[in-house]
Amino acid sequence: MSLRQQVARGFERCFGRLPELVVRAPGRVNLIGEHTDYNDGFVLPMAIDRAVWIALRPNDAQRVVVHSLDFDETVEFSLAGLRRNQSEWAEYLKGVAWALQEEGYVLHGWDGVVAGDVPIGAGLSSSAALELATARAFASVSAWPWDAAIVARIGQRAENEWVGVNCGIMDQMISAAGKEGHALLIDCRSLETRLVPLPPETVVVVLDTATRRGLVDSAYNERRAQCEAAARFFGVPALRDVTVTQFESRVDTLDDVTRRRARHVITENERTLQAAEAMQRGDAVQLGLLMNTSHVSLSDDFEVSSGELDHMVACALQQEPCYGARMTGAGFGGCAVALVRGAAADAFASAVAAEYHRVTGISPSIYVCAASNGAEAGD
Ligand code: GLA
Repeated sequence: MSLRQQVARGFERCFGRLPELVVRAPGRVNLIGEHTDYNDGFVLPMAIDRAVWIALRPNDAQRVVVHSLDFDETVEFSLAGLRRNQSEWAEYLKGVAWALQEEGYVLHGWDGVVAGDVPIGAGLSSSAALELATARAFASVSAWPWDAAIVARIGQRAENEWVGVNCGIMDQMISAAGKEGHALLIDCRSLETRLVPLPPETVVVVLDTATRRGLVDSAYNERRAQCEAAARFFGVPALRDVTVTQFESRVDTLDDVTRRRARHVITENERTLQAAEAMQRGDAVQLGLLMNTSHVSLSDDFEVSSGELDHMVACALQQEPCYGARMTGAGFGGCAVALVRGAAADAFASAVAAEYHRVTGISPSIYVCAASNGAEAGD
């Protein structure tokens, strides 16, 4: 049974009637442009065919009542006077309700059933998917127009200020605005977007190292602070404003760590724009090379890779059908992403799984992903 059917049937079981609509919002994988979003730079993610689904019906109370099929738990909260006092998953829904109210939206209550197949904590943005599905639910019951950039900012505010995770805008923006068959070039300063097609006869494969690191949040915040220090050094609002030439002309006066952090961000912005051009031309070889360079830069200069991620990327690159591979997301564990010749994707997945297991003793999870639409509502 599809997840859509599962949430719809779950709704009937929980509430004794049919849902009025079903919304979904996807997870994402980033092809290139890593740790650039909070530097006002460029990212090139795609929405994947794994999502959070909510079947729902507006109610006449100022309340949200939601049952999670994944956690087998029902929570209920009043929209007047939201407080942080529930299971972690429910705080994402409340955070979105809170952020919408802070932005001046008047909310209508609803009953819903939620389920998802974005692996939690793997770096595929299950939290952004839950936030955007919740935003889609509130927008649908009140018939607000869907403006991806506005809603993405609201999701990010929920995550930053309610959940307390200091993320950039990439995950919420792609979950709000993704398009089937395409990646999205996002300018994280203006939130302008451009659709770019995946190169013909290629597929994107997500390679989960099955390792998770603690302290990701503190390392992430440390990188952000280092980037801000570098921007101050160059006298600009964000590293986005420094060109490779400007960087090179002053590089000798920077301390070693700041120099390497800045070099990653500045060159990664360039690579991301070049990658979008390569995709526009259908040039899988060039896109693959840029992904490989991105990984080296993330590993050596930005220092957010891990032994397992480096092994996974090396295992992927050993396979003939692979154009390129890199770690994706915040790093320190989680997933790598590879661009692979479509016809050979299944053989590639089994070969990489076997080789990664041989080297590390860990069984990875591997997902061949289709680029899907961003958040949607249907009946
Ligand atoms: C996490 C954050 C994003 C982005 C990436 C790194 O996924 O949520 O905003 O900063 O890390 O590119």
